[in-house]
Amino acid sequence: MFRIQSKIDTSAPEFQKQKEEYLKILTTYKERLASVTRGGSEQAVKRHKERGKLLARERIDLLVDKNTPFIELSQMAAIDLYNNEFPSAGIVTGIGLIHGKEVMIVANDATVKGGTYVKESIKKHVRAQEIAMENRLPCVYLVDSGGVFLPEQANVFPDKYDFGRFFFNQARLSAEKIPQVAVVMGSCTAGGAYVPAMSDETIIVRNQGTIFIGGPPLVKAATGEEVTAEELGGGEVHTMISGVADHLAENDVHAIQICRNIFESIKRHEYQPLPKTPVEEPLYDPEELYGILPVDLRKPVDSREIIARIIDGSLFHEFKEKYAPTLVTGFARIMGYEVGILANNGVLFSETSLKATHFIELCTSRNIPLLFLQNITGFIVGKQYEHGGIARDGAKFVHAVANANVPKFTVIFGGSFGAGNYAMAGRAYEPRFLFMYPNAKISVMGGEQAANVLITVKEDQLRAKGQELLPEEREKMLHTILKKYEEEGSAYFSTARLWDDGIIDPVDTRKIIGLSVAISQNKRYEETKYGVIRM
Ligand code: COA
Repeated sequence: MFRIQSKIDTSAPEFQKQKEEYLKILTTYKERLASVTRGGSEQAVKRHKERGKLLARERIDLLVDKNTPFIELSQMAAIDLYNNEFPSAGIVTGIGLIHGKEVMIVANDATVKGGTYVKESIKKHVRAQEIAMENRLPCVYLVDSGGVFLPEQANVFPDKYDFGRFFFNQARLSAEKIPQVAVVMGSCTAGGAYVPAMSDETIIVRNQGTIFIGGPPLVKAATGEEVTAEELGGGEVHTMISGVADHLAENDVHAIQICRNIFESIKRHEYQPLPKTPVEEPLYDPEELYGILPVDLRKPVDSREIIARIIDGSLFHEFKEKYAPTLVTGFARIMGYEVGILANNGVLFSETSLKATHFIELCTSRNIPLLFLQNITGFIVGKQYEHGGIARDGAKFVHAVANANVPKFTVIFGGSFGAGNYAMAGRAYEPRFLFMYPNAKISVMGGEQAANVLITVKEDQLRAKGQELLPEEREKMLHTILKKYEEEGSAYFSTARLWDDGIIDPVDTRKIIGLSVAISQNKRYEETKYGVIRM
């Protein structure tokens, strides 16, 4: 492979200015991240600790192997929603190692509204299980939750991917021989009781964990029976009488140790052996990304400059370098793992789509995971291109991405607009993981384009009635649409709603993608079959 030769002058004032601007974006991101990972209010945290309980992230720290990375997912879920009263949507999910095995961990944060579930908490829990299924990861549920957040019941209870899906998934995961382990460290009420009940193995903490279908107030109201929570469904009841749990722990630390012990006898699935070469740091400092990434999306960025700061040794075997240059394709290694990279370098044309389709076929035939680096305004428009069959060729690209059965990973480093989002393995195309950078933007089209379309439609409507759009009305419309797109297009808006798996610091991309490829090895890559491709 050849080393990418960077054309960036890092001492140039333009680079320095851009870096300064990016660092402001990054500071905001880090402050917001620190704020959500603190969990609930100071008072709630204090009360939780006074009860002798560890916080959700402290529990995870103890559970995973010492000095090993934990990839936390969707840390900013529910940000800017519910008056910011659900930091991280009240649930921590992520992948860590237990006795050397990659495990999906789902931990309720009881300091956030008693660990109850709103729509985004449910999406996060279900997404964690989906990742577990796709990558054959055992699951550990650290349960400490009051069940659904009752005022939001209509948004969390009845639909296909709502609360009930947790237990459906647990049954399916267990049937696939993917271990399910629950540690009950607090409340586990009503439907939530099925998390431990449907696990392969369950631990409960004495005088702290409770499991019941109806809590004491409900029992009293229904039957008149007066009973304490511990008598109704505490640790002793479930390990000695009901058999709903299997191990009785004295406290959080003890429960976590039992959980780790369970993993001593669980074998690691390594179904897809991938060749791994020694890791080489990129030739160029990844921190230089801050001076290169598009803060202003109108400014073109050569994506090779991004690739050079992500891949091992900045070594890249570019494919069809001279053909269809608005998409860079090629092979590289990240943390020793081979990947096929597709990175936007402009608008998508017919020939770009053909190049991409060819490249995806190469990767699927060689079992090489695909990394999509998105900065895309969409497919080219205009009579010439429609007549040339841009929709037909774009369809080939979308078809190849949809059917590619090697793991796909997507990082949005700039804009993600229109059908470009689809072709470049947007959320609907099931990348194993999708991450955004804090500067990234995502929407059906850019704000200005959307404003122009809507204003043109309005003008046409008025013209048909013999009227016209007044300049001040036009200005108002433009302003409103731009504002809406600005807000709804931000990475925070996306991540709050689980359209991605989290916002990441660009310098962490190497590590995160390397770990993601390693995780994907737990399940054998399936053969790729293509359907009818329009010619
Ligand atoms: N729906 C909505 N809000 C709930 C809730 C629920 N199911 N359970 C708890 N909350 C809220 C409380 O109103 C409180 O909100 P606030 O901070 O704005 O005052 C917050 O969560 C913490 O609750 P609190 O009872 O003060 O904390 P706790 O740690 O002493 O107890 C629970 C937590 C979960 C054990 C307890 O609140 C409880 O039993 N809740 C009801 C559980 C239930 O019956 N769920 C059935 C739903 S399927």
